[in-house]
Amino acid sequence: MDTFTETGPLPTAALKDGFLSDQFGRVFNYLRIAVNEQCNLRCVYCMPPGGVDFQPKKELLTTREINRIVRVASTIGITKIRFTGGEPLLHPQIASIVRAAVGTPGIEEVHLTTNGLLLPEKAEALKLAGLHGINISLDTLDDSRFRTITRKTGLLRVLEGMESALELGFPSVKINMVAMRGFNDDEITNFVELTKQHPVTVRFIELMPFDSHQIWKTGKFYQAEHLIADLTTLYPELTPVDGSSTEHHVFRLPGYPGKIAVIPAYSRNLCSGCTRVRLTADGYIRNCLYSHREYNLRQVLRNGGDDREIANLFKTAMWHKLEDGWEAQRRGEEHRESMTQIGG
Ligand code: GTP
Ligand code: 5AD
Ligand code: SF4
Repeated sequence: MDTFTETGPLPTAALKDGFLSDQFGRVFNYLRIAVNEQCNLRCVYCMPPGGVDFQPKKELLTTREINRIVRVASTIGITKIRFTGGEPLLHPQIASIVRAAVGTPGIEEVHLTTNGLLLPEKAEALKLAGLHGINISLDTLDDSRFRTITRKTGLLRVLEGMESALELGFPSVKINMVAMRGFNDDEITNFVELTKQHPVTVRFIELMPFDSHQIWKTGKFYQAEHLIADLTTLYPELTPVDGSSTEHHVFRLPGYPGKIAVIPAYSRNLCSGCTRVRLTADGYIRNCLYSHREYNLRQVLRNGGDDREIANLFKTAMWHKLEDGWEAQRRGEEHRESMTQIGG
């Protein structure tokens, strides 16, 4: 794999205002940190039934290292943190990691993306820790399909987790549904109806080829443009509204408390507005979801690097970000087997 640790001189533009920026004028304020690689589901679009080659614990960032990275990131313009995985709720110290991030000056929002299985028991601790938002991955509302897609059981627990999150009053609760032709495309209306009952944002996401030779090639891809066309046919009264930077298309139905969004994760027409920096569980900075070039922050940390060196590796990584995810994908071979190692 292409990895880099250089922290040498950067063009002055890259150090502009001490923020993370790139050569295309984008500024990055949103850091996604994968806290582990393990998952308690085995979604068919993510990994094989036996899992992937999970790395030993010593290769993954420790809680102290994560806390330190958040502190340094907050000094270079990061205001939003999202913890991902693997499945972040499997991390024994997730509530304490969230609490530390919430208490970091400059960090305005802390979120988490989870499959929801452990939410019924963990939601309260996360609320107490100050977490602002929870995105729950849920691709079907049908129990037998849930077992097919995740190769495990637990739909009711995920739904219970969503209810707990809503009852506890998290400011943001979202459902991520990877839309797949011939699998769950007939559930679009059921998912939209969730926004009638609850103040949730339901997000239909394009399938991406991050599953090393699994279902990507089986004709299930459902393009964002077609999703939007189908949604507007089903619901002509959809009204465009504002959403997060990932939610390229966001709508609301009159009288419904929730929102509906479409994320062109594969089509990638959201790249010019990209605000995201990624950190893998083993401590590599990825400047684009589709990039193959990674920057070894763990090595900087474990070689005794100071805060300035950490900040400079972030700046270097982001300065070298390519124009879009297409260009990033063209420039090399993916070496990670599964989305669970990248953090989504
Ligand atoms: P919000 O902050 O609530 O908008 O969440 P998010 O969409 O940034 O985070 P989440 O972990 O819920 O991501 C959901 C999905 O959006 C991911 O699995 C990807 O499919 C897609 N996505 C998120 N960030 C990017 C990105 O930078 N590029 C692309 N192409 N897709 C992304
Ligand atoms: N394509 C699209 N989305 C994916 N996710 C994981 N793998 C893929 C893929 N191949 C989604 C999960 C979760 C988010 C973090 O990533 O469903 O919502
Ligand atoms: Fe940003 Fe890369 Fe995602 Fe495009 S594909 S939005 S550049 S991370």
